[in-house]
Amino acid sequence: MSKLRDRFRGVMVGAAVGDSLGRPVEGHRHPDVGYIEGMAERLSVFPYSDDTAMAVELAESLLDRGGFDGADMAGRFASAWQAEPHRGYGSGVVAVFEAIRRGVPWEEAASRQFGGEGSYGNGAAMRVAPVALWAFPDLEETVRLAAETARVTHIHPIGVEGAVIQAVAVHHALRDDFSTEALLEELGRLVNTDRFREKLGRLPECVERDDEHARLHLGNWVASDKSVLTALYAFLASGDFEETILRAIRLGGDTDTIAAMAGALAGARWGHASIPRPWLKVERHDHLINLADRLYERT
Ligand code: AR6
Ligand code: MG
Repeated sequence: MSKLRDRFRGVMVGAAVGDSLGRPVEGHRHPDVGYIEGMAERLSVFPYSDDTAMAVELAESLLDRGGFDGADMAGRFASAWQAEPHRGYGSGVVAVFEAIRRGVPWEEAASRQFGGEGSYGNGAAMRVAPVALWAFPDLEETVRLAAETARVTHIHPIGVEGAVIQAVAVHHALRDDFSTEALLEELGRLVNTDRFREKLGRLPECVERDDEHARLHLGNWVASDKSVLTALYAFLASGDFEETILRAIRLGGDTDTIAAMAGALAGARWGHASIPRPWLKVERHDHLINLADRLYERT
């Protein structure tokens, strides 16, 4: 199999693996990752959460519509929530889905969030990885499409920028010539908000130091500016897929989402073949492979 196809599979499956492994300790401050071995022994399937549910809808919308179609994507997000409301969706984003189901145009629904300022939650970033696959190897298209897909639910500049950062990081991790320096330079050129700029400045020192420093300075909460660079840190500070996921979960807080974003990056860099076998019990594994292959066949 081509290395790039394996990497595409690594993105879709890696994100879902991170999501499903991080989910049991969501909200814990300092999780001990010992439960993961028990999970592999006890469960035949690792259930994923809203992060993967939305990534699947996003990928299917791009593939079926041949590109970005906001109304289609919004409709799919809302239908998936209605069919399975207990996946762990953010409390605010549910109001967007309810409005869409009532017939409110999606642009208006997302603009009503949080008194009109929009959501800065990490919901747009957690589902964005398929955008990097769809647009690969076009970086400009990756940036544009990441922002467009974000605005379906998250219009706050922090919510949008988090999705752009995560998509650009996945794009870089897919490349044969990946380098941390080139990625950080790229992000330095792209980032506009003060909050992300400040955190991005802290990232290299966190990679040099340790997880405690990263937790303190990058954060581990559902806000996009407190989780997207935390996931990137987990990836940059690690040498393989397993280490990335365990580190992401140990950082605590929004563990499912931080591990999902870190898993997309590690899967892009080291491929599906690098994911520990017992973790491939993730829900809808074969469907995720199928989506990755359909996205790959476009390149
Ligand atoms: N003002 C105040 N709080 C905000 C704002 C704002 N402008 N924006 C976001 N929040 P939401 P998501 C807070 O609901 O981004 C799941 O657990 C607020 O507390 O738009 O899709 C996933 O696994 C709000 O409830 O949803 C992810 O971890 C929260 O941010 C996460 O939720 C989430 O924003 C994704 O959530
Ligand atoms: Mg979460």
